[in-house]
Amino acid sequence: MRLNVFLLILLAGAVAVNYGIRRDPSQPNDEWLPEMVHAVSYESFSRNPNFRDGKTLQTPPPGTIARGFSPFPYQANTDDALRAGLELKNPFRAQDAHAVERGALVFTTFCAICHGAGGKGDGSVTLRGYPPPTSLLADKAVHLLDGQVFHIITYGQKNMPGYASQVSREDRWKAVLHVRTLQQTVSSAIGTRNQETKLP
Ligand code: HEC
Repeated sequence: MRLNVFLLILLAGAVAVNYGIRRDPSQPNDEWLPEMVHAVSYESFSRNPNFRDGKTLQTPPPGTIARGFSPFPYQANTDDALRAGLELKNPFRAQDAHAVERGALVFTTFCAICHGAGGKGDGSVTLRGYPPPTSLLADKAVHLLDGQVFHIITYGQKNMPGYASQVSREDRWKAVLHVRTLQQTVSSAIGTRNQETKLP
């Protein structure tokens, strides 16, 4: 009991002292190491006498590409799909076992639902009324160039939506590898046509 009274008095004392020495909350605190508070460099939005317009944050020169961003200079149309076919090469090779395995996983996850596990256009949604895609083993698909297939996965084609937002660029190329693996069972012409393609 006595201890509690003592602690209570101590607390009251501490509150009183704190009240007595409190600072004006509208004023900034003391700065002990001002060089750490105020940067020596110009801050993004501070004035800057070194530039003609007096701003620190300068507009990037035209054509600047953000770090880590790789542009894809093709529009969503068949002409650009064809151009992508002529200009782009799959950065992954069929000999790359990891890429092939990943491509198969991507296909099972994102494509098989419509195209079917074997690419024949008999995925589960087609059994419920979704217009079935033509077979990826058909001549037309076999003769698409790798870059065209990549363009189709990126932007979609007619009833097929684009997958750029769900499937990363690398994974889209790996899915192209898997499409080629599926097609290998029906054609040996695939590889040769892509090797003929020259980069601009
Ligand atoms: C929502 C269903 C659906 C999904 C999911 C889907 N596709 Fe398609 N895909 C289609 C349809 C439908 C077509 C036919 C479009 C047309 O009429 O030109 C097509 C066309 C294609 C073609 C062109 C075939 C040709 O002969 O022109 C390729 C290649 C292709 N898809 C690959 C893929 C890959 C790879 C994936 C997974 C990343 C995928 N698709 C996911 C529905 C889908």
